[in-house]
Amino acid sequence: MKVKTKSPANIAFIKYWGKTNPRARVPQNNSISMCLSEMFSECEVEFRDDLKKDEINFVGEKVVKKKEIERIVEVLDRVRKLGKTKLRARVVTKNNFPKATGIASSASGMSALTLAALSSLGIKMSQRELSKLSRLASGTACRSISDGFVEWVKGENADSSYAKQLFMPDYWQICDVVAIVTKEMKKVSSTEGHALAETSPFYETRLRGMDKKIKEIKRAMKEKNFSEFGKIIEAEALSMHAVCITSVPSIIYWNKTTLTIIKKVMEWRKGGEIESYFTIDAGPSVHVICREKDSKKIAQRLRIIEGVKEVVINNPGIGVRVVST
Ligand code: PMV
Repeated sequence: MKVKTKSPANIAFIKYWGKTNPRARVPQNNSISMCLSEMFSECEVEFRDDLKKDEINFVGEKVVKKKEIERIVEVLDRVRKLGKTKLRARVVTKNNFPKATGIASSASGMSALTLAALSSLGIKMSQRELSKLSRLASGTACRSISDGFVEWVKGENADSSYAKQLFMPDYWQICDVVAIVTKEMKKVSSTEGHALAETSPFYETRLRGMDKKIKEIKRAMKEKNFSEFGKIIEAEALSMHAVCITSVPSIIYWNKTTLTIIKKVMEWRKGGEIESYFTIDAGPSVHVICREKDSKKIAQRLRIIEGVKEVVINNPGIGVRVVST
């Protein structure tokens, strides 16, 4: 059966950086994120008896690394094992945003692929199991399963590490205004970055403060205290990037437009014009988090900054879905 799925990218308010079990992608700390309404991947999978090998089509991608194909085949192999079949699959995958620029394309792509492959073999699974299976393909993919605001509980091992919903998408009217500042793929993958985290002298300090930070952000979310929430997410993004910058070798994901936007967001806030806060994943793109009422104004201001290629306003979105069979 041919199945098509759609899955969102997600933005981490508390970041996943570093793993206790790299193979099974078990993280060092819990992380908290929001699914994005406008940035997503679509994936079509069909297992067929006329194929000698898996056929994978990345729509609109000029550069596809061998590693990316291998990661997809690994997902298919896992699903084949569950479905007790040797059939090969035809896969069509596409993102509506540039990959590897600081928007979680592996999160949306791998969660869409996992659900599409399972569904095309008629395998049903709970959200928790689907989250775990998606995590094996890409850590952040486990956070694109549930709708809205999500927490990835690190767990003790591969079997107890999964993400679950904290709040529905309509719980809080906040937006992620994404400023894409490059269309080029980053030079250092997040997989390499995770592996280097422990070489930073600040990593241990970061991890030590995590439980407190998670408690505080959850309280701010529960109280819908935007100012408190914003302060936490901005400090958190800087903490993750401090670890990246001080890793050996150093990883600097930002470019000059990233820094311009950081400063603008701080200026707007100081001047009492707009209260918004930035966060940045493993890439130069900046996510400006604001109240929904301010999102259009922020988008307009971001669009006129030199180096900004595209701006997308996201509301809290829903998780992965089958869209057609
Ligand atoms: O799943 P990965 O390996 O692409 O991890 C990326 C992690 C960050 O995006 C930098 C932070 C996060 O929690 O999303």
